[in-house]
Amino acid sequence: APGSPAVRPPLGWNSWNTFGCDIDEAKIRGAADAMVSSGMRAAGYEYVVVDDCWQATTRDAAGNLRSDPTRFPTGMKALGDYIHGKGLKFGIYQAPREETCAQYFNAVGGATGALNHEQQDADTFAAWGVDFLKYDWCSPWGTLNEQVTGFTKMRDALRSTGRPIVYSINSNSAHTNTGPSYDWSPVADMWRTTEDITDRWSTGCRADCFMGVTEILDVQAPLASWAGPRHFNDPDMLEVGVRGTFTPTENRAHFSMWAIMAAPLIAGNDITTMPPDVRAVLTNPDVLAVNQDSLGRQATRVRDYGETEVWAKALSDGSAAVALLNRSSTTATVSTTASEIGMPAANGYQLFDVWSKAARNTAGAISATVAPHGVVMYRVRTGSTVPTDTFSLRGAGSGR
Ligand code: DGJ
Repeated sequence: APGSPAVRPPLGWNSWNTFGCDIDEAKIRGAADAMVSSGMRAAGYEYVVVDDCWQATTRDAAGNLRSDPTRFPTGMKALGDYIHGKGLKFGIYQAPREETCAQYFNAVGGATGALNHEQQDADTFAAWGVDFLKYDWCSPWGTLNEQVTGFTKMRDALRSTGRPIVYSINSNSAHTNTGPSYDWSPVADMWRTTEDITDRWSTGCRADCFMGVTEILDVQAPLASWAGPRHFNDPDMLEVGVRGTFTPTENRAHFSMWAIMAAPLIAGNDITTMPPDVRAVLTNPDVLAVNQDSLGRQATRVRDYGETEVWAKALSDGSAAVALLNRSSTTATVSTTASEIGMPAANGYQLFDVWSKAARNTAGAISATVAPHGVVMYRVRTGSTVPTDTFSLRGAGSGR
């Protein structure tokens, strides 16, 4: 939304995809520690987001939110201070209705939603040092108008605190007239477009069920024009490394596609135990540079061959990123051209493979053999200069 601190897609970690409701302050502090020790912070990740189930089941006598006294005994201000002390930013979760999502669906953990307490809760969050709010509709009822009113109310409440707080919403795609059908860019900084993700390449889900990577790509593909600085489509948090389900190829493909879509990259794995190959995926500087490019463009699917696809994104230096995606379970050759991905006419082009770091020249044809459930991703430049640099978000001054 206008005025948002999220000039680039937010980079962070969230507790939900690994821990669900089974969170406590030791786990969140451990995640913050691991953000530093693993190199995630140095790669550009900032936000440590506590998802649903941090709250006590009731407000205090003055109507203020409070944390679960057993699992978060020292409170959220202290937790925020700890996270800030690590050079990171603090994210928290709340819901616009009477109850949070965990309470609706599981009757555990979650509790008091913000309904009729919007300004009070925004003030509480600002006082706790919150830098990011995930606001989760998560109830099967309510009209689009009620959603617009409710989400706008919290946007304004956050603004009136004077603290820059990234505003991340989930309108709940069970409401078929929202999610992928409504442009939330005036209201939020990032908004969910799909059902909840799970750690599967494909689930076959189209509505009211967990989605895999490929179903989410299909929902997100037509929404490219909504994305830009301070307003990003959110295809949900990363499943890279979660429970070790994905193969290394699938981890790279999932991460590449979220990066090229200018999606917020919110890691969901247990970063305290992640193996080196998972860390290498999440911290790949050349992939992060594509994601964090200042134009904030979401890639468009320029070619759909069925089981294989070509996605391309214009970048601020006149280059482009291209993802050659193989959704199938057999190896395939995927091809496009410099002109199809929007590059200007030139005598030659240079293809830099953001995963292998190999560079080669081409007159215009762009083609690769792509593993099953894999992506080959190039940064394409005119001319034939082979770059020796890789991109550093911190070093290059990301503007945040
Ligand atoms: C639904 C959201 O989509 C999830 O990411 C998570 O926040 C849960 N609600 C929490 O209950």
